[in-house]
Amino acid sequence: MVVQQQDEQVDRGRRVVNWLLGSSLAVLFVSIFYPIVKYLVPPKLAEPMTFSVTLPWKLAELKANSGRIFRFRSLPGLLVKTSGGELRAFSAVCTHLQCTVQYREDRQDIWCACHNGVYDLNGKNISGPPPRPLEPLKLNVRGDQIIVMKG
Ligand code: FES
Repeated sequence: MVVQQQDEQVDRGRRVVNWLLGSSLAVLFVSIFYPIVKYLVPPKLAEPMTFSVTLPWKLAELKANSGRIFRFRSLPGLLVKTSGGELRAFSAVCTHLQCTVQYREDRQDIWCACHNGVYDLNGKNISGPPPRPLEPLKLNVRGDQIIVMKG
C-alpha cells in the first residue's frame, strides 16, 4: 500500500517535470524563431487606392522623344514624351520579372534590359517574355506641372 502510494507520487512528479520541460522547450523555440520569422517576413503596408505625385520636371523641360524614370510610391514610374509631343506614363516595373524598363529613343519603344522585353508606346508588350502590358498611370498637366496618378 505504501509502495503503491510512493509509485503514484513518483509518476505525478515525473509528469510535472515532463510538462515543465516540454513547456520550457516550447517557450525556447518560440522565443528563438518568432523574432527570426518576424525579421524575414516584411510587414504588409496598406497602400492607398489612389495616389498622385507631382513630377520634379516642368513640361517645357521635357524634349520630344524622351523618357524619364520617377518614383511612384515605392516603385519606379516611366514618363514618356513621344516624338509627337504626347505625354504618357506607366509603371516602370516589367510584367515579366519586375525589372525596371526604360525608354529607347532610337527605337521609340519601351525596353526591359533584363530579358529583352519590348513594349510599344501604349505600354503593350510586343516582344520578348513580358506576359502583360505595363500598368498605365493617369496624367494631369496643370500649367507647367505634371501630376501622375493612379486610381
Ligand atoms: S524582367 Fe523584363 S523581360 Fe524579363
